[in-house]
Amino acid sequence: MHYDAIANAHGLAHDPFKALVGPRPIGWITSVSADGVCNLAPYSFFNAVSDRPHYVMFSSSGKKDSLRNIHETGEFTCSMATWDTRFAMNVSSAPVAPDVDEYQVAGLTAVASRFVKPPRVREAPAALECTHWKTIELPDVEAGSDQGHFVVFGRVVGIYIDDAYVHDGRVDTGAMRPIARLGYMQYAAVTPETVFDIDRPSIARNGSVVRS
Ligand SMILES: Cc1cc2nc3c(=O)[nH]c(=O)nc-3n(C[C@H](O)[C@H](O)[C@H](O)COP(=O)(O)O)c2cc1C
Repeated sequence: MHYDAIANAHGLAHDPFKALVGPRPIGWITSVSADGVCNLAPYSFFNAVSDRPHYVMFSSSGKKDSLRNIHETGEFTCSMATWDTRFAMNVSSAPVAPDVDEYQVAGLTAVASRFVKPPRVREAPAALECTHWKTIELPDVEAGSDQGHFVVFGRVVGIYIDDAYVHDGRVDTGAMRPIARLGYMQYAAVTPETVFDIDRPSIARNGSVVRS
């Protein structure tokens, strides 16, 4: 199949778009409202977008509590969702009222961050502490849709890593078992067995590409 994506003429029972852009990392976003209520929710329209300096983004489909809190208080954290926390992560996506703390609903522990006010998930092996840079509202909202999409950019100002996962100066991501979103209700898990190395290619004197 090969179809017009503007018309979204896929002809399938379900839109395949998200199944084609995956696995997507999950930013498990903690924010705090102006009146101090903590909020936790997973976002899979999430990624790192630069490494010097470190920036991340996530995209909110409509104006959700995380977006509102970040606009109010200017900070958030992104904890790593893992195989061990997959069910709690899912529970934290429940559409509860803004004054409900998802940490309690999901049975998770909020631990203080070092550089920003929003806490991070203690059960997560890594977390990024961020300050809000800017939000971009995407244009061309689909006819009939009342929700825009808001891409939130944050500068990473603090990084937590559980030292148990640092070996020989490198983070053992596979051992953390991060999970990622595919399409529909599907997820994928990174495990030590699925991680592999490929060295960057180099250029030989004769100009040919030397593969590793
Ligand atoms: C794995 C996962 C990924 C999600 N990714 C997104 C996303 O990228 N954007 C979004 O708007 N909602 C996403 N959601 C839904 C939100 O988590 C859900 O709407 C949540 O209630 C928002 O919480 P908030 O209003 O406290 O910010 C996702 C849910 C799950 C379970």
